[in-house]
Amino acid sequence: MDGLSRSRLAAVIGDPARHSRSPAIHNAAFASTGIDWVFTAFEVPAGDGAAALDAMRVLQLAGLSVTMPLKSEVAEAADVRDDVVEVLGAANCIVALGDGRLRAANTDAAGFIAALRADAGVVPEGIRVALLGAGGAARAVAWGLADAGAADIAVINRTPARAQAAADAANAASSEAKPGRVGSIDDIAGADLVVNATSVGMGAGSSTDPQRSAMPCDPARLLPGQVAVDLIYEPLETAWLAGLRERGIEAHNGLSMLVFQAAAAFELWTGIEAPVDVMRQAAVAGRA
Ligand SMILES: NC(=O)c1ccc[n+]([C@@H]2O[C@H](COP(=O)([O-])OP(=O)(O)OC[C@H]3O[C@@H](n4cnc5c(N)ncnc54)[C@H](OP(=O)(O)O)[C@@H]3O)[C@@H](O)[C@H]2O)c1
Repeated sequence: MDGLSRSRLAAVIGDPARHSRSPAIHNAAFASTGIDWVFTAFEVPAGDGAAALDAMRVLQLAGLSVTMPLKSEVAEAADVRDDVVEVLGAANCIVALGDGRLRAANTDAAGFIAALRADAGVVPEGIRVALLGAGGAARAVAWGLADAGAADIAVINRTPARAQAAADAANAASSEAKPGRVGSIDDIAGADLVVNATSVGMGAGSSTDPQRSAMPCDPARLLPGQVAVDLIYEPLETAWLAGLRERGIEAHNGLSMLVFQAAAAFELWTGIEAPVDVMRQAAVAGRA
């Protein structure tokens, strides 16, 4: 031993970032694969995304996970952008390419598709989807589903103009099929898969927090045979998921998407196959 530290550093940036489960997930993965990497969290406010990438270059960080509100800023400030980032205008993962350049990637789309297969055994090809919400997560899900061959993606959102943008993201995934469209609540009845990508029902507060009992749609709109996914993982069981399960509808939370987007980031940074089961256990165990 020459006493020099060869540890590589990766981190999550965002605001807030300190409550993130990412340090627990990635440090468990580094320990499990025996590599000398450390993962931490940096609180970086809106407007400082480009400065954070400059710091990444100077400090030679190997990778960044990026959360709200920096996903668009880092997409713009990176040197190289994946196709999905160009379409969505948002990145959740930055990879140091080793030649001084930084690559912007988006692992939310692939993470959602991998989670869908793992949790529900659903292969997106040819399916009809009702997608509730049109924010950053919804656009990534729309792109991922379209890229994986979904036949119809009806985007249902409180603000219709944003629904069109999410439908456009789906239609940009493939030059042939154009599965994305603005939908209405009635599209839920004909869907194979219903996804809640709104933040309705999210809340780290107590179980009596009124935000926690809010639902993105009435569970009675779904029938057994349909599959539902709530992207929310805080809490693990939203009121919507509980209502759906009471009706005998297969319903999954957002924990697997969180795990699989992290696994994809781990693989981009390290080139090593991600220990998904270890990462899942760390995600369930909670925050760092
Ligand atoms: N599992 C994972 O790995 C993962 C990854 C990313 C995100 N998520 C979750 O996905 C959710 C959305 O995240 P995001 O980044 O897309 O957020 P976002 O960009 O802020 O979008 C929020 C969406 O929720 C809708 N919404 C908010 N309050 C509403 C209300 N009271 N009634 C109806 N619609 C409402 C918004 O509609 P308007 O357009 O009308 O405002 C918008 O469509 C969050 O709960 C987040 O935790 C999970």
